[in-house]
Amino acid sequence: MTKQILEQNRQSWDKVAHHFNGVDALPSYGPFAKTEDELRLFADMENKRVLDIGYGSGHSLLYMAGKGASELWGVDISEEQRKAAEETLSNLTPKLYCAPMEEDIGLPKEYFDCVYSIYAIGWTTDLAQTFQLIYSYLKQGGRFIFSWDHPLYPHVRSQNGKIYLHGSYQQEETEVYGAFKGEDAPMVIHKRKMSTYINELIKAGFTIEAVIESEVSSNFDFAEGEVSDRYYSLYKARKFPTTMIIKAVKKG
Ligand SMILES: C[S@@+](CC[C@H](N)C(=O)[O-])C[C@H]1O[C@@H](n2cnc3c(N)ncnc32)[C@H](O)[C@@H]1O
Repeated sequence: MTKQILEQNRQSWDKVAHHFNGVDALPSYGPFAKTEDELRLFADMENKRVLDIGYGSGHSLLYMAGKGASELWGVDISEEQRKAAEETLSNLTPKLYCAPMEEDIGLPKEYFDCVYSIYAIGWTTDLAQTFQLIYSYLKQGGRFIFSWDHPLYPHVRSQNGKIYLHGSYQQEETEVYGAFKGEDAPMVIHKRKMSTYINELIKAGFTIEAVIESEVSSNFDFAEGEVSDRYYSLYKARKFPTTMIIKAVKKG
């Protein structure tokens, strides 16, 4: 079953990859969320070895190169994303792998100063295995930083501007999106609670340094935010965080 989900998602990501060129990439942590320029979670990246989980079009890795990272590595399930990332990073020498994040593909252990993931981690079919692998890639003292939809956000819907709870936050289940980005690209996603993310990090051995339920970025201070029922809207984001950001450390 897991293999089927991964294969389905892989094919669909190949189809929608072109919608994600430079979208959900650092310094952005997610829609309307505070940015890395505001939060400064990464600190000094000079000469650091970094690994991007779900690198997409490679723009976050490009950002890391700009911050002086010495080695750029990444894993993404989609071959189309790899092609896009190779283009984005054409002046650099990244190591880009096309594979599911939940698979041990022999990436070096105890090697990276920082592993990060911007809006990709929630696609994993096996959160425990993914966090264990990430923990194993990090050096002692290495940091793992990721952002994803705030786990309650998919349940926060709006109708004529009235916010209501859709479905059950309690029930952790898979959801099938029949179409994605308006394309015939069915995807299966696992819905998890906030506590599941936190507890799986702890079980993998991490010490959690920060959990951020992001407020709206100051970039939108002067934006109107009219009533909207869209999935991501400034109107909703001002009432409820679109994005959670977690920073954890491998203390050993
Ligand atoms: C919203 S995009 C992330 C964009 C990326 N942060 C950037 O800087 O451009 C989500 C990415 O997760 C990847 N993905 C989805 N499921 C995956 C999995 N199981 N393992 C690895 N990558 C996966 C997709 O191919 C897609 O590139």
